Amino acid sequence: MPTCRICEGPVQEFFDFGRQPVSDVFPAPSEIGTEHFYRLAVAFCENCTMVQQLEEVSRDRMFPADYPYRSSGSALMRQHFEGVAEHFLATELSGPDAFYVEIGCNDGIMLNSVRAAGVRHLGVDPAEEAAKVAGAGGSRVYVGFFEEPTARKIHAAEGPAQLIFSANTISHIAYIDSVFAGAGALLDEGGVFVFEDRYLGDIVEHTYFDQIYDEHFYLFSVRSVQALAQRFGFELIDVEHLPVHGGTMRYTTARAGERTPTEAVGQWLEGERAQRLWDWATYESFANRVQENCEGLKEMLTRLRDEGKRVVGYGATCKSATVLNYCGIGPESISFISDSTAEKQSRVTPGSHIPIRPSEAFREPYPDYALLFAWNHAEEIMAKEREFKEAGGRWILYVPKVHII
Ligand code: SAM
Ligand code: TMP
Ligand code: ZN
Repeated sequence: MPTCRICEGPVQEFFDFGRQPVSDVFPAPSEIGTEHFYRLAVAFCENCTMVQQLEEVSRDRMFPADYPYRSSGSALMRQHFEGVAEHFLATELSGPDAFYVEIGCNDGIMLNSVRAAGVRHLGVDPAEEAAKVAGAGGSRVYVGFFEEPTARKIHAAEGPAQLIFSANTISHIAYIDSVFAGAGALLDEGGVFVFEDRYLGDIVEHTYFDQIYDEHFYLFSVRSVQALAQRFGFELIDVEHLPVHGGTMRYTTARAGERTPTEAVGQWLEGERAQRLWDWATYESFANRVQENCEGLKEMLTRLRDEGKRVVGYGATCKSATVLNYCGIGPESISFISDSTAEKQSRVTPGSHIPIRPSEAFREPYPDYALLFAWNHAEEIMAKEREFKEAGGRWILYVPKVHII
């Protein structure tokens, strides 16, 4: 039986999505066939409850210099991170000469707000082109992977950090032991290491199976993060559930014994017990629902094609890689996917080879149906594309169940 990346306990596989490509590397038409594939399988640790993948994609393949994801593409996420920055500027970063370190700062969506407030800061991100965007906004970025040696270098050059923050990145890092060792070396006494990631409870509750792709190596819960923190000399002292990205949890950790955990930690643990998030049976039934959703989606797309309807996709997300490749959906069903990210346009989706076009292509003319892969931005996108619905267009969603609105 395979063993847990964190505690070395036995892990049980509960779903195998088969051969999947690296989700955020979009080949140009001339590069089709050069994609790297691996086996996307997820497992549950019977000892520490951490849900994790069984096969790892190397970090250099997932996060190359031209990694195309740009956090600032979403107005909702810009607003979210402005709020997060405001909160920390008034708390952890309010002291004299505070130092802020961000792991996975990408295009500076959060870092720029901290910089604008005049606080000493350093972003760390290997995605050089995204980091350049943050740099152009005036923020300081170290281009590279955060791990223990990087953290020690930063500490030696700049001193201790009062806050290490990371959003949608820590769950991507299989070598998480090195991240915690680095945080331990870099944090000031009394400092906190805070990270936000997709919440397993939401993924299970709403069958958000497409949240499972190469980058989401771990799917965190309050219980598994509590065990993780403890293993590395930290303590989970607070949790806060956030509505972004289809359900996110913010985990606040500190060195063990430095701060008193809030009641929220115990409350969420109780909630997870009630949801049976630590029971194997939950994952067996999740697996059945994933299969049902995929079958339902394939049937609907086949029926629409037979009826001569035009269907396009909206948002060339990482999530879409899992849906398209697992369900076997390609350009025969979805003529193109519109996406606002310049770096993705004129390219095709990995593995499924659906062309990606700019947002304007969506309106020229409107399709009959739009399959919403960026469902986590549904409110923002549906408001922006109100005229599509007014013109008789319909949205197709495949989570929590396949439905048309
Ligand atoms: N924080 C942004 C957000 O929430 O929108 C970006 C999230 S993006 C999904 C993940 C980012 O983490 C990428 O920019 C990637 O290059 C970066 N990353 C991956 N591994 C990293 C590591 N070990 N250290 C620092 N950044 C890393
Ligand atoms: P995400 O779900 O990983 O945040 O990715 C969302 C993708 O959807 C990203 O490639 C940008 C794209 N997008 C649009 O095309 N239009 C939009 O209005 C929004 C919010 C996102
Ligand atoms: Zn474990």
